[in-house]
Amino acid sequence: MKFHIATLPGDGIGPEIVEQAIKVLKAIEKKYNHIFIFEEAPVGAIAIEQTGNPYPESTHELCMKADAVLFGAIGDPKYDNNPKAKVRPEQGLLAMRKKLGLFANIRPVVTFPSLLDKSPLKRELVEGVDFVVVRELTGGIYFGQRGRSEDLNTAFDTCIYTRDEVERICRLAFDYAMKRNKRLCAVDKANVLETSRLWREVMQELTPQYPEVTVDYMFVDNAAMQLIQWPKKFDVMVTENMFGDILSDEASVITGSMGMLPSASIGLHTSVFEPIHGSYPQAAGKNIANPCATILSAAMLLESLNLLTEAETVRQAVTDSLNENFVTEDIDKNVAKKTSEVGDWIASRI
Ligand code: IPM
Ligand code: MG
Repeated sequence: MKFHIATLPGDGIGPEIVEQAIKVLKAIEKKYNHIFIFEEAPVGAIAIEQTGNPYPESTHELCMKADAVLFGAIGDPKYDNNPKAKVRPEQGLLAMRKKLGLFANIRPVVTFPSLLDKSPLKRELVEGVDFVVVRELTGGIYFGQRGRSEDLNTAFDTCIYTRDEVERICRLAFDYAMKRNKRLCAVDKANVLETSRLWREVMQELTPQYPEVTVDYMFVDNAAMQLIQWPKKFDVMVTENMFGDILSDEASVITGSMGMLPSASIGLHTSVFEPIHGSYPQAAGKNIANPCATILSAAMLLESLNLLTEAETVRQAVTDSLNENFVTEDIDKNVAKKTSEVGDWIASRI
């Protein structure tokens, strides 16, 4: 089959890791007789430099007409250290999410047996951890009204959700739960926030439509605690944008391997697949970053195109690279294979 894949490498280590995922997709293309047409476009700091806009219209058009988007990372310390910068790389990511209608961010958290001892948690707590964080991605405090008073000494950000926004993400989370172990945990702050009370209302309305799913509710502070005390108790977790941002970072380190975790952002238009780690500017251009999270994001991309065997082949090749300890320095300093070497190894294994 023939597919158009837009590639948005972005900033920092983005270009190096996306290059490895493309290698892997090309190996899949060859093995299974598909045609993948890759087309690249700028996003983030690099797009600001080239066009003044972190998510240029031409990039958006490319994404809209593609079958899937493979995304690297965005961000540059130049902007992080300057709170007064008017245009920021992150605005490109937020604009992309909004314009592509990517209302759901799916982050599977699974352990790799060979990496268990790298977890900051005890082995017995993490062995067998397997859950998914479903994060709302185009609403809440990220997109509500914000501003400053005239004297600049007061600032505000507004958390806002409509019933429809809540309903579509909760339905999607119920559907995930149905495909998995049928347990759904809704995380909120309903003891304080009105938006959270709306979430609970909607969840309670939907629950009877999914009689097989066991639903429970957890306040976000408690969820942050339980995630590290009993990570195995979770199956699907659904939450609003900012809680999801925070909890998914927390969840990602439980497995001991932030460099291994992929994500999918899905919604109204083309889906976007990206590693959950950031642009890691200290490593940019050094050929040392772990490409596995991006390669596993490419596996999720294949799955979204209904190429299930192909996706499994990619996952198996990544697992093989771990089992044979052909890994980058973040996983084993003594081995410290280069980004491109790991990409080559996984592609040739396919
Ligand atoms: C993420 C990131 C982004 C977010 C930043 C870069 C704006 O942390 O994808 O989780 O907060 O959503
Ligand atoms: Mg984040």
